[in-house]
Amino acid sequence: MSASYIEKLHLKKVRQFKELNISFNKGFNFIAGPNGCGKTSILAGISHCFDHRGFQYSRLGDDSEFWTDLTLNDHKKRIGVGQNSIKNDGYRKSTIKAWTPPTQEENRENILIHESKSKLREFCPLFIGAHRNIKYIQISGMQREQPIEEQLTNRLATSSHSLYGDKQTNIKQWFVNRYFMIDKEWAKEERENWDHMINNLQTLGPFHSNFSYVKTGKDLEPIFSIYGNECYLEELSAGFQAVLSILAEIFEWIEGTRDEGDRIASEAQGTVLIDELDLHLHPEWQFTLRDGLTNIFPNLQFIVTTHSPHLLASARENEVIVMAKNEYENEYNLEPSKFRFSGWSTDQILSEIMGVKSLENKDYEKLINEAFVQVEKKSIDGLNQAIEKLKMVCHPNDTILTVLNTRMASMVAISND
Ligand SMILES: Nc1ncnc2c1ncn2[C@@H]1O[C@H](COP(=O)(O)OP(=O)(O)O)[C@@H](O)[C@H]1O
Ligand SMILES: [Mg+2]
Repeated sequence: MSASYIEKLHLKKVRQFKELNISFNKGFNFIAGPNGCGKTSILAGISHCFDHRGFQYSRLGDDSEFWTDLTLNDHKKRIGVGQNSIKNDGYRKSTIKAWTPPTQEENRENILIHESKSKLREFCPLFIGAHRNIKYIQISGMQREQPIEEQLTNRLATSSHSLYGDKQTNIKQWFVNRYFMIDKEWAKEERENWDHMINNLQTLGPFHSNFSYVKTGKDLEPIFSIYGNECYLEELSAGFQAVLSILAEIFEWIEGTRDEGDRIASEAQGTVLIDELDLHLHPEWQFTLRDGLTNIFPNLQFIVTTHSPHLLASARENEVIVMAKNEYENEYNLEPSKFRFSGWSTDQILSEIMGVKSLENKDYEKLINEAFVQVEKKSIDGLNQAIEKLKMVCHPNDTILTVLNTRMASMVAISND
């Protein structure tokens, strides 16, 4: 089978990066590193290579250049812009002044950004940002799906917007549409995809959760089952909602951006980029998510960001791209690490990958130390107290605080078993 995936990204004078070169493998890629090191910026950089209508999300300068190398059906392509393409008219106001092609590489076809739809029609990446709660909406019936040309145009135009939460997605409509079309004669691929999803839902859920779809009733409210309880979509915990919305978005994208005959999820190729894959997920989910996703979409490439040691522990060799904060130089050459981290402890992952340095000095570090002592002792009360003290001194989004909270959740889960 021929292959299609993103190979590399090159950024020069884009956002905080003086220069960044990063290569990906054709399966799963976890970009890991501390808050603020530039993980989301990498995804945004890729989105700019495919469309200029999201440039306002990044500071670009007159000397910026950026491109993405990819393989499409075994042919090598490079899409982006070279030097002297961008005009910087102030904050959030970068425009294209000339379409200068990227640096030419032998045996690689150069494509300009505005040619993405015509020349890379079969390669329209999916961007999923770190905002994925499901708000309750009432669905009144089936919604006509946009023709493929319109979907491609819209998706390309809003790929950066998706990363920053400025695009509404409504996965409930997708479930409801499925209800209406599932027994129609013409819906062959849709039916196959639906069955495939239903049959594999369990592999995504934590062990023993028996996560499954039950039905969509006349009121058009999809119902699921989890740990033996029936639940409406909006009643599911944030973690289940997060996973379901990722799943539905991927199915919707596969079916909406490909021609009839090419829409089978278990065969589909292409790239899905997800910011903060661990968001809202209980550690039990984090351990199963990678394998669940590759089970359902075995031929897709995933490029995801994370600061979860649990998620990293589920990665295989050549899947983790470690990004350290590099405040002075801002030059990066990154590639997947040959190691896998399943045997590493949370603390080792924290210090080696998340760039957490000494745990001995200062209030903050003393409190962290204290918290890890409680983790070692397996004391839920002790850890709770340590976390409360730590909360008083650190930022609410502090990476270590997040990790400790996750640890706490798994200790509570284990003690409840
Ligand atoms: N639009 C922008 N233009 C230039 N630099 C930016 C922009 N947005 C963020 N940055 C820089 O990127 C850093 C954060 O990068 P980000 O990719 O959000 O990190 P992460 O996702 O790893 O937490 C900020 O500290 C800031 O210096
Ligand atoms: Mg981020």
